[in-house]
Amino acid sequence: MKVGSTRAKIFKEDSELILSEMEKVFESKILTQGPFVERFEKEFSKKFSVTAKAVNSGSSALEIIMNLLPSNKEEVLLPANTIYLDAAAILKNSLRPVFYDVGENDFFPSLEQIKSKVTDNTAAIMVVHLGGFIPENIFEIKEFCESKGIALIEDAAHAAGSKIKDIFAGSIGDFSAFSFFPTKIITSCEGGIVCCKDESLSEKVDSLRNQGLVGEKNENFGYNYRMSELHGIVGYHQIKRLDEFIAHRQSIAKIYDAEIKSSTLTKMEFSSDCFPNFYKYPCTLNGANRMQVKEKMKELDIVLTGEVYSVPCYKQPVFKDQEFYNETHGNADWICANHICLPMDNNIEVEQAKYVAEKINEVFP
Ligand SMILES: Cc1ncc(COP(=O)(O)O)c(C=O)c1O
Repeated sequence: MKVGSTRAKIFKEDSELILSEMEKVFESKILTQGPFVERFEKEFSKKFSVTAKAVNSGSSALEIIMNLLPSNKEEVLLPANTIYLDAAAILKNSLRPVFYDVGENDFFPSLEQIKSKVTDNTAAIMVVHLGGFIPENIFEIKEFCESKGIALIEDAAHAAGSKIKDIFAGSIGDFSAFSFFPTKIITSCEGGIVCCKDESLSEKVDSLRNQGLVGEKNENFGYNYRMSELHGIVGYHQIKRLDEFIAHRQSIAKIYDAEIKSSTLTKMEFSSDCFPNFYKYPCTLNGANRMQVKEKMKELDIVLTGEVYSVPCYKQPVFKDQEFYNETHGNADWICANHICLPMDNNIEVEQAKYVAEKINEVFP
């Protein structure tokens, strides 16, 4: 049996609808940021109780959020074990990334670590819902942000449809960013969403994503981060499938939960308040070498999905001249080096998940 890499899933009946709507776009000649993008935004906003503004990627969404932060403060806190793009968005807006460590043996922000990094110059704290898991202490972090007048940013790129205490990822913070890259839980081929709690900032996103235009003048230091109508159509039909995709992933996760007995792997623990979308199924490694585990799985025709993340953000080579490159964040370093993510996407079949569990138990008892 073969268990391949992560792929998007577009149902045949959806692709027929998508193609017929794309023809309407060509007939109408409104090719970008038109009624189909608006329909996508409306559907997203309704489902997740947010005000969604579509852009051309999750990275663009993050850059716009950084542009919206108050200009009198320059530090943005972010976890050490996140993606390069979070720090890049901060630096590109002439702000300063300040990394915080996570808890011991887990992926989640430590409130103590966050508190120790906050200064009078902190503009925002970013929390990243890695693998689709919303940190259990998100409401404590929110309360702390409110008490200090600091903005809370959710990088919800992995977390469309994830909930905590029945509240959706992306609807908790002052700002949130989503990604619809093809490996994500739902896709628009490429695309992203920015959400802002403050209505006036949300209106500013309209300008920022469209060259900074207000009317015919460039009033803001904007970008071209518009979403095309074709992407808006795909995104809309994928939202309709989100609940189905999450239910599927949760059923695969249940198989891994029940059938993997290997003492080499420790599965992710989370409270019953959490409803993860299982964008990833991460496990920490108890002493085993990740490269060897991955190689062995590959020999058995099982492709593990990418880690979240294998190299801490602050240690990416592009940052070698930044002061933070020489810091140490022990827990994040450990988790980055010592976890794997089991096969998980919208296509994997029950028999494939059982095969993965069986082989892991056999090879890594
Ligand atoms: C945590 C996280 N944030 C942001 C992004 C950026 O999204 P995009 O690839 O759509 O630019 C990604 C993409 O992989 C991500 O994983």
